[in-house]
Amino acid sequence: MIAASNSYVSAMFSYHSSISFRRTLQILLLFTAISLSCLVIFRELDSFRYFPLFSFSTFSASPPPAFPLFPSLADDDELSADADEYELSKALKDAATENRTVILTTLNEAWATPNSVIDLFLESFRIGNQTRQLLNHLVIIAFDKKAFIRCLAIHVHCFSLVTEGVDFHSEAYFMSHDYLKMMWRRIDFLRTVLEMGYNFVFTDADVMWFRDPFPFFDMDADFQIACDHYLGIPDDLDNRPNGGFNYVKSNNRSIEFYKYWYSSRETYLGYHDQDVLNKIKYDFFIHEIGLKIIFLDTAYFGGFCEPSKDLNRVLTMHANCCIGMNNKLHDLRIMLEDWKHYMSMPPYLKVSSNSSWRVPQNCSI
Ligand SMILES: *[C@@H]1O[C@H](CO)[C@@H](O)[C@H](O)[C@H]1NC(C)=O
Ligand SMILES: *[C@@H]1O[C@H](CO)[C@@H](O)[C@H](O)[C@H]1NC(C)=O
Ligand SMILES: *[C@@H]1O[C@H](CO)[C@@H](O)[C@H](O)[C@H]1NC(C)=O
Ligand SMILES: *[C@@H]1O[C@H](CO)[C@@H](O)[C@H](O)[C@H]1NC(C)=O
Repeated sequence: MIAASNSYVSAMFSYHSSISFRRTLQILLLFTAISLSCLVIFRELDSFRYFPLFSFSTFSASPPPAFPLFPSLADDDELSADADEYELSKALKDAATENRTVILTTLNEAWATPNSVIDLFLESFRIGNQTRQLLNHLVIIAFDKKAFIRCLAIHVHCFSLVTEGVDFHSEAYFMSHDYLKMMWRRIDFLRTVLEMGYNFVFTDADVMWFRDPFPFFDMDADFQIACDHYLGIPDDLDNRPNGGFNYVKSNNRSIEFYKYWYSSRETYLGYHDQDVLNKIKYDFFIHEIGLKIIFLDTAYFGGFCEPSKDLNRVLTMHANCCIGMNNKLHDLRIMLEDWKHYMSMPPYLKVSSNSSWRVPQNCSI
């Protein structure tokens, strides 16, 4: 409780000053990044390029590193944080739409092996209706080396976000210590993306994209999120959000919200980001900063918890409410077959045949 109210107070006080501070910082960092890019080129000869073993550090968490005039190889840590920021801003810039929007997903080794989740994810974009071109805007954030190498083999925009001392490579068991760390790392990372001025759709890789969701987003909302259970009213806070799919606009409200969300992990120790969201969504702080939240209707943004039954309307389908990798892969494959079958039907049959899914089968909670 104390931690929450403290961070609330400091967030309110630092609201404006932190912005100009960040500006100065960004200019400083940009300057440093340009100077360092020369060094980066040398380091690439050292085959560091494909194995950025160093950790990523964010803009605002720590003071800017002192600029090393004669950097030795021992200065890796200071150098690498800037190199990472440079790599990230490059990946985002290359992938962004003209209105500075990117699609982001995270990947670890377990989901990156051939014929696993990431392949089904990319396939959904290719067989979806006019979703293929959205792949140009997708950045895959790799949590470990193997995921990064696989990304480079199958996709154009990859970024390596490796956290020292944490092993994200295996199938992180739901609610295990590493799983929680990985989830929270994601929230902190997404805040950085917002601070860099990019709007994003964050999507878990087990969300299949069948149609372009952008026309369906509410352009006035700051934070839009898919649901495990949707109660029928888009701004009803009682809706049960699912953190695996959301669209967030970059502005002061969303940045403050992500900071608050991340800091709330200390208030609710041991909880998953989604559980914490379910608690803080009612908080006065969110009302105070004026964040507009919209919950996305499962009729369009469905999942195994609450399927989007009508194939004429579905935009995305998430393999949520599913335990076990094999069950997930099994049901996702059937889902993609169902979609292909639907797409092959003549238009009049698409409309009249009430096509729906044969899933969930093995997935169920
Ligand atoms: C696919 O998208 C096009 C263009 O938006 C639309 O005309 C067509 O009806 C869509 N097909 C399906 C099956 O949704
Ligand atoms: C941003 O770009 C996407 C993809 O090009 C588009 O669908 C969307 O409508 C744009 N949003 C705004 C606010 O212009
Ligand atoms: C935040 O608000 C300030 C003015 O209060 C504005 O100058 C700045 O552009 C805003 N930042 C974002 C990311 O919207
Ligand atoms: C579509 O579903 C409705 C209600 O489930 C049913 O009454 C109707 O006969 C179905 N139409 C077709 C063409 O299967």
